Amino acid sequence: MALQRALESARPRSSRLFSDAFARHFVSRRWRLVVGASRVGAIRRAVEVLYDRVAGPGPRASAVARTRLIDDLVTDARSSIGQFVILGAGFDARAYRLPGLEQVTVFEVDHPATQQAKREVLGRVLAGIVAGDPLAWPVRFVPVDLERDDLVRALRAAGYRDGVRSLFVWEGVTNYLPPAAVDQTLGAVRGLAAAAAGSLLVFTYVDRAVLEGELSRFPEARRWVEGVRRRGEPWTFGLDPAEVEQFLSHRGFELIRDLSTAQAGERYFRPLGRRERGSALYHVVTACVLAEA
Ligand SMILES: C[S@@+](CC[C@H](N)C(=O)[O-])C[C@H]1O[C@@H](n2cnc3c(N)ncnc32)[C@H](O)[C@@H]1O
Repeated sequence: MALQRALESARPRSSRLFSDAFARHFVSRRWRLVVGASRVGAIRRAVEVLYDRVAGPGPRASAVARTRLIDDLVTDARSSIGQFVILGAGFDARAYRLPGLEQVTVFEVDHPATQQAKREVLGRVLAGIVAGDPLAWPVRFVPVDLERDDLVRALRAAGYRDGVRSLFVWEGVTNYLPPAAVDQTLGAVRGLAAAAAGSLLVFTYVDRAVLEGELSRFPEARRWVEGVRRRGEPWTFGLDPAEVEQFLSHRGFELIRDLSTAQAGERYFRPLGRRERGSALYHVVTACVLAEA
């Protein structure tokens, strides 16, 4: 994700979907050089073509379309929330790059190993931006293994307040978790947020058809799915888009919107005259947390 966001951010202002100045710091030195060189239009075009040829046409377009879509959802919600919880935050830099979050308490929840790696890089990068201790940046880091740890207890211990309207963003994570951990996390979010009316959850999922080997509907996905499997991170969880509403209502959430990254791509790439298309297999859901009966 960091590489895809860094490449997108190297595009000229007039054609990029967003700018994430942090992303390039999370990629290897070799890739950082490639990203730097990509500021030259011809090199960038060659890198994008090569990347899409190796990874398949799905991942990059889908990743940047979903990033922009979720940026917009956070931006729309920011004035009505007091807490922003990023679950499986990885190298998401929204807490540092999106304006207007100054009044919002941000919690970054992630697997302890990933979070440690992020904090090391952030310490270096933020040192050039803020005065004083860079890790005094007002973001609360909450190390949690969603398969093992108690998310509710960890967030409350980090200062999460139940009565404050919150936005939870859970991007690019459910597809790597066992179904039981997905259920447990949704239960935790509901338990934390049900007392604050209007709290929102934004999360992504992949179409379950792909997990069941039905790749013909998603020609862009074959190399993508093979790629994650080869890297030892096969997708383990997916949903049928037709069942999302019911899936959520059984867990105490009301579906507001479910957009695939193909639909997001229509919204964001087309007006810029870009040829990329997102993928229909990757979805971004916005849901409202229902009050407990
Ligand atoms: C593909 S990355 C997405 C990161 C980020 N949300 C983004 O969109 O850039 C997947 C993230 O899920 C986290 N993750 C995977 N399994 C986890 C677990 N069991 N507990 C906590 N986090 C987990 C990883 O640490 C990683 O940060």
